[in-house]
Parts: sequence; structure tokens; C-alpha cells
Amino acid sequence: MRYFMPVDVYEENDCIKTHADCWTKFGKKALVVTGSHSAFKNGAYKDLEEVAHTKGVDLVLFKEVEENPSVDTVMKARDFGLAEKVDFVIGLGGGSAMDAAKAIALMLAHPKADASYLYAKGDSTTLPIVCIPTTCGTGSEVTGVSVLTRKDLQVKGSIPHKIFAQVALIDGKYLLNAPLQMLRNTAIDALAHLWESYLNPNASDYSRMCVVAGLEVWKQNKDVLLGQQALELGQAFAMMRAACFGGMAIAQTGTSLPHGLSYSLTVHQGLAHGLACGYFLAGYLLQAEAKERDYLLHLAGFTSLEQWQDFYKAVCLKIPLDKVALEKAKNSLLANPAKLKNAPFKVDEKVLEAIIYEGNHYE
Ligand SMILES: [Fe+2]
Repeated sequence: MRYFMPVDVYEENDCIKTHADCWTKFGKKALVVTGSHSAFKNGAYKDLEEVAHTKGVDLVLFKEVEENPSVDTVMKARDFGLAEKVDFVIGLGGGSAMDAAKAIALMLAHPKADASYLYAKGDSTTLPIVCIPTTCGTGSEVTGVSVLTRKDLQVKGSIPHKIFAQVALIDGKYLLNAPLQMLRNTAIDALAHLWESYLNPNASDYSRMCVVAGLEVWKQNKDVLLGQQALELGQAFAMMRAACFGGMAIAQTGTSLPHGLSYSLTVHQGLAHGLACGYFLAGYLLQAEAKERDYLLHLAGFTSLEQWQDFYKAVCLKIPLDKVALEKAKNSLLANPAKLKNAPFKVDEKVLEAIIYEGNHYE
């Protein structure tokens, strides 16, 4: 058994400030990689700026990361970072910003390489990376994964390089004013990570320890996700912690079939990542042994599979998924043998059809 977690993780109020020395030590100039809005609304960029100013670190800002970041965006940010001669990279935001930051840090460390290097086998050295999550799903702050979209091929998937941040700074306050639907989308992603990691041939006692701890905190937030309770700071921390545990778990095991099926729905139907993964969770649980299925449902605070299905129906927006889209998802997973291996049971087309169609009665 092996448990590998090279990221220095701080989860605290104001940890950008209180642990400033952990991230300002990487150099005098940082490239901040983020999206166009949320890091400015939730106060995270302001906090970063204040500390950087005090510590004499210059920040240069790349705020063009889109949802499902593309290779083109990564290369544009790399060129900007090279021109600015940055020393390290800060991924600030959700999974898109952090995944992009990892790929950008890789390309900055290989300044002569072109975009094909992202998909090449080779040296995975990067500039130092700091991740500051402001959502509660991806766990990218503690995984080695960078998921990018290749617009030319209309494909979304992980690049082969394993890239971990040096430092993760987790502060629940950045979630407090997040839109409810964003909390739902990302919390369902975290749940998918936890369940898929547990039901995974690569799972070990160590990775399952993260799953159990993650589900224990995940279940505390169901009323918030249902819109029945306001989000308070303690719960915001719990939501981020559940996501972080999910990330620690999949960093060991990888994700499984629901994630493999989700990518096509995100690229072709524009469905949010967490909701796309969540769509297949009931069907995936149905394929598992009853004892494990009941255990995972119980840990997440559900008394039955139907209760989970009702919860998903309540928190996701109505999904107009037709058979063409679902068949496309099935075929793209069938062409992904690495992901097919990540299930604790034998997978063929019939099993995938059962996961896709038998677990879903949402329309
Ligand atoms: Fe995910």
C-alpha cells in the first residue's frame, strides 16, 4: 500500500495571511491564474494582494480561465508568464483555475516546448504552485490532475503529467457568498470523488480513510444544498474539507466510471461537471455489492438509494438529457480503457448501459 500526498495543506481562517511565509518564499513575482469574476467578488484576490504587498511579492494577473479550461488558454497564460518572468504560479478559484495553473506552471518550466508537450511523456517539473480553492468540489488543490479541454478534438480529459501544488491554502470564508447552484454542482462533484474512490480497484485502507472522513463532513451540508439552511462559516469549512478529502482519495485511486461518462456531457451538452458526474452515481452504486452500496449511502447520510436519487433531483437543475447524448457518453467511455479499468467489477457495454439507464428516472 502507498499513500502519497506531497502538498502542504493549511485549512484555517485567514490562512493566506497567517501562512504567508509558506507561499511568498517561492519568489518575488507570481502569476495569479483565475477566472474573470468570483475571486474578485469573494475577497480572495484582495487578501492575496494585501499579503503580497506586505511581503514584497509582485502579482501579475491572468484572469481569463474559462470553465473547462482549454489548451489554448494554458498556452496564452504561459506566454504571458514568460514575458513577465514570473517565479511561481498561484491557482485561485475552482477546479478550472487550479487545473489550468498546474498546466501553466508545467509549460513555464519548459519554455521552449509547444502545446504538444502537455500530452507528451517527459519531465513533469513545474514552477512552484500554490492552490487556493474557492469552491467545494474539485479537490484539485491536493491532486496531481490537470483536466484540460482540446477544442480542436472536442475532448476533455486529464493530461498525463502528475502535477501537485506545493501549498494549498483553504479558507471557508470564500464560499460564503457563492451562488447556491455553484455549491450544489461542486458538492456533488466532491461526493462523486468520494464514492468513486471507495468503489475503485486502486482503493486502499489509506484512501478509504479519506473517503470515510470526507463523507462524514459532506453529510453535514445536505440542508444547505437543499436550500433549507443558510451557509455559515463552520459549514463552509466543512464543505471545503469534504472536497479536500475527496481530492486526497482520488489522488491515490483516480476517479471511476461516472467521471468517465461525464466528460462527454460537459463538452457536448454544456452540463456542469458535478451534475454530469452525479447523474451516473445511482447507476454506479447499483453495480456495486449491496453491502458497500448501503455503507456508502449511510456514510453520506442517505437511508436508501431512492433517497439519494430524490436528493439529486432536488439539487440539480432539470437536465434535458436525451438518448443521443447518453449514447455518446457511453461510446466515449468505451474508447477510454484506462478509465474502464477503474471499476471494482467487470465492465462491458451492457454494464455501462445499466449504469446509464437503470440508475436514472429523472424525467
Ligand atoms: Fe470531478
